[in-house]
Amino acid sequence: MKVFITKELPGNPEKMLRKNGFKVTIHKGNRPVSRRELIKESADADALICLLTDKIDREIIAGLKKCRVIANVAVGFNNIDIGAATEKNIIVTNTPDILTDATADLTMALLLAAARRIPEGERMMRANAFKGWKPDLLLGVELKNKILGIAGAGRIGSAVAQRAKAFGMKIIYTDHKQNPVIDIEEGAEMVPLNTLLKKSDIISFHLPLNQTTRHILNCANIKHLKRNAIIINTSRGEIIEEECLIKALKEKKILAAGLDVYENEPEINKEFLKLENVVLLPHIGSATRETRANMASLAAVNVLNILKGKEAQTPVNRINN
Ligand code: GLV
Repeated sequence: MKVFITKELPGNPEKMLRKNGFKVTIHKGNRPVSRRELIKESADADALICLLTDKIDREIIAGLKKCRVIANVAVGFNNIDIGAATEKNIIVTNTPDILTDATADLTMALLLAAARRIPEGERMMRANAFKGWKPDLLLGVELKNKILGIAGAGRIGSAVAQRAKAFGMKIIYTDHKQNPVIDIEEGAEMVPLNTLLKKSDIISFHLPLNQTTRHILNCANIKHLKRNAIIINTSRGEIIEEECLIKALKEKKILAAGLDVYENEPEINKEFLKLENVVLLPHIGSATRETRANMASLAAVNVLNILKGKEAQTPVNRINN
């Protein structure tokens, strides 16, 4: 049986697959797999291990002749047409849990960087522009007693709440259902989205991307934000209507933003580059050595399980057997 992997992955998950007798083909090199290569290589594959940057749409899925599992090396799976895969009895899997702490840590790093203007300070040092201590040099804002609004209180949102509580922040959140764990452990309160936007000093997005969450922060509701609000996004770029965020940052309608994800990745709206009050990272939420190796291993285990007739560890759809 053949497994096609769209990119060389940390931790060499192919070793485990080869040991179990599978033939593994890997798209190598720096350049991402092209649509043509993807169609060609996956046509006769029994399993596909892919990245969040690979668009596995209905057309690609239609071309899969034998595939039984698509293992996405990411927790988000908006790059895959789940409906089309389910119709073809293909299990789709993701990599939840193991990346929760890494992503929550990076969220806090962005939050601190935006609140304390760390990249601005770094740019000043590198430009040799530091002329000595001044009482008003690069004043930021404190986290203690500030209200953190978490949009999406799932695994990552909850881990961020835990960290933020240690910084003395008060937590409110919005979600489709109550999260008793953060209610009790972090003393958090669930509120409607508009209340969260109005009350929060810092808003952090931890939502999966789908039809209902696309542009959940948009030109209409961004007006509700406090003048000193900070926006953090480590989920998916399309959750925020970027044009409106740029306008709000440019016109100083809000204080700052910290972003790890963008609407048109890997392209960046050039307007962001002109702004001092935004911290920009290249989608590295889960990018620790440990986590990336664990993500690749989990994808391989999911493939192994399905091809051996067992249950996937982390499926995102159900099929009729
Ligand atoms: C990263 O963005 C992921 O979904 O794992």
